[in-house]
Formats: sequence, structure tokens, C-alpha cells
Amino acid sequence: MSATKIEVMPVAGELEQKASEMTVGEGEQEDIVDPWTVTSASAKGVDYDKLIKRFGSSKIDAKLIERIERVTGKPAHHLLRRGIFFSHRDMHFILNQYEQKKPFYLYTGRGPSSEAMHLGHLIPFIFTKWLQDTFDVPLVVQMTDDEKFLWKDLTLDEANRLAHENAKDIIACGFDINKTLIFSDLEYMGQVPEFYKNICQISKLVTFNQVKGIFGFGDSDCIGKIAFPPVQAAPSFSSSFPHIFNNRKDLPCLIPCAIDQDPYFRMTRDVAPRMGCLKPALVHSTFFPALQGAQSKMSASDPTSSIFLTDTDKQIKNKINKYAFSGGGATIEEHKEKGGNCEIDVSYQYLTFFMDDDEKLENIRKDYTKGELLTGYLKKELITILQKLVTEHREKRAKVTDEIVKQYMTPRKLAFDY
Ligand code: TRP
Repeated sequence: MSATKIEVMPVAGELEQKASEMTVGEGEQEDIVDPWTVTSASAKGVDYDKLIKRFGSSKIDAKLIERIERVTGKPAHHLLRRGIFFSHRDMHFILNQYEQKKPFYLYTGRGPSSEAMHLGHLIPFIFTKWLQDTFDVPLVVQMTDDEKFLWKDLTLDEANRLAHENAKDIIACGFDINKTLIFSDLEYMGQVPEFYKNICQISKLVTFNQVKGIFGFGDSDCIGKIAFPPVQAAPSFSSSFPHIFNNRKDLPCLIPCAIDQDPYFRMTRDVAPRMGCLKPALVHSTFFPALQGAQSKMSASDPTSSIFLTDTDKQIKNKINKYAFSGGGATIEEHKEKGGNCEIDVSYQYLTFFMDDDEKLENIRKDYTKGELLTGYLKKELITILQKLVTEHREKRAKVTDEIVKQYMTPRKLAFDY
């Protein structure tokens, strides 16, 4: 009798955490965090310390923040100081490079699934802009129109059009045109053979079994999805950008992204040494909560959960007043007696993302917790800040012409020599 041969794939280090294991808890309700789903059973949102353990990344602690300040000679961005960028891989290596005046580059991206970008989409780009200004390094921004074609009900042309529309919002964040390349996968693939070559190299090193484990693909997923992860991995290698890096393949990459994108880069880090490439470093952010509360993230497909970058002052005011989940008491009396809960109060959470003034924020936290401030006050502060932010964004975006988009999206040398 011939025994059935069971194939057990040897998986190394960072690939050991499988998506399927991340969603199964022992008796308790676990958070679900993968590139397609982010939900938590708790009103406080995802337990990020647990996530660091499950993903095998490292916490951005006070020591690292201090080192960033020491090395750059600049105060850390509030998104770092307030724990919104909370996790990393190999950030010390990037700081070593910088200290030794050696180059590295930034890579981030956006899946262009809808015209309407919301506040949550802006967070990685606001932080990336700070990184670019602080470290003075090149930035590549991948627009995964191919990904959105595969996952959503979109034609190729529509996905590509959305890539250009979203590029305007990204450009409006203020990235230096001489230091930034934005590229659409659908276009870049045909323009730069080195990109496709890297994709081929990567795909040869990852088995079907492994992507199933990492991304949870099933038998009825189209094979386009299964082939996509190498496309998101390839920009982590400097050889994908021969115009920028003068064909060098040894330049380190730092990827700012939301933590749900980490599976792609665990895979990338696993294949990198076998390609003779460096593993990309990462800094991960938490999710931007939905207006209804931190159990889920802001989602463009649910307009009541989101503040869009196209919303009018009136819409912003109405949405926050109507939907922003309050951590305050049910009645004014109860609120004054027991105080508010900042951990679950959406207006407070949003203020931590967007209010620059540390002292003012801390006073709001104290006074709201004591019950001295009412939810209405927090909402009013937030409405003012967001109306200003969205208006400024709208004005900057209106100045971005198709011609400017084309310049950012043309493969070319940037203002760095290698
Ligand atoms: N997959 C991402 C999304 O759907 C887009 C993306 C591509 C990305 N490359 C990236 C995000 C690198 C962060 C970092 O939004």
C-alpha cells in the first residue's frame, strides 16, 4: 500500500505567521487584520501590541523615537510621538545608514479603487511626506490599478483612470517633483523591463502553498490575485527603478504603510536574501477608525463611515455631529459624574491624528476624562480642524493639472546621483 505523500512546505522565519492563524483566537474574539479585512470585537479597536507579537514586528518605543530625533536633529512627527506609527521592521538599520550618510529610499502605494479618497487614505502620505522632507530621500509611489482591476468590479481603463485621479490627491500632499516618482502598474510594467524581471524573480521563489498561507487565497480565487503579491513586492528592490538608482540593486528601502499591508512585505523579506537583495525596512501605522467607532476602519464604500477629501464644510460638520461615536456619558449629568472615555471616543481619536498642538490635546484629554468637557466641544474642535484641512487639500488638488500628473508619472532620473 502506498502511503499518501503529504507535502509540508518548509517556511522560513517571517513567513511562519499565516493569515489563517491570525484570525483564529482561543475562545476569545480575535481581531481580523489582513489586506482586505480589518475588524475588531473591541470598541477600543485592534489590540496592536498583540498584533506586533503575531506579525513578529517590533514596537516603535520611546528609545527609537529618541534616536530618530537625535539622528535627524528634528522633533519626531506627532504621528510617531502619539503611537499612530507604532510598529517597525529594521528601522535601526535605516537610521544606521542615514548616520553613515549612506542612501536609502522610500516606497509606498495606493490601490486606486475609487475617486473619493477619505481622511484615512491621507495618513500614510502625510507621514511619508514628513519622512521625505526629514531624510531628503527619493520616494516611489505605486498605484496598483492592476490589483484593483483584479479585486473589484472595475475595467482596466477605469482602474487606470482612477490611478491618475488619486495621483492628484497624493501630489496635493506636497511631494517634491524632483524627488518623487508615482507609477501605475499597468503602465510601468511596459515601460521598464527591470520591474517585470524582478516580478518574475520573486514569483519563482514563492509557492502556491505559501501565498495561500500568507493571504488566505482559496481555490475559487482567480489566478490573477495569486500572481499579484510579487507586483507589490518588486518596488522594494532598487533595481526596479534603473532610471532613479542608476541600475544599482543594493539600495535599502523603507516602506511606510498601514499594518494590513505587512503580509506582502513579510513575503518580500523572505525572498530578498535569495535574490541577493536587501530586505525592505518598514514602519507600520494603526488604522484610521470609522466614524462609528474603532471596531472597523474608515471605508470608502460606506459613505457614512467616512469623511471624504471632497466633502464640503457642511457635510463635514453634519457627519461628525451625526455619526462620530461618543465616549461620553448618556446624559450631561452622567457625563459630569463619570467623565468621558477617550479610548473609544472617535472625535478624540481623530484629534490625535490631526491636532498639532500637544499641550492643547493633553488638556482636552484630561478635561474630557474628568467630565469637564462635553463631546460637543471635542466635535467642534475637530470640525474646525478638518474643515481647514479638507479645504486646503481641495485647493492644492485643484492646481494639479493632468500635465503635472504626467511629469510625476514619467520614469526618469530624480535629483539624486548614485
Ligand atoms: N495594496 C495597497 C492598497 O490597496 C497599495 C500599495 C501598493 C501599497 N504598494 C504599497 C501600500 C506599498 C503601502 C505600501 O492600498
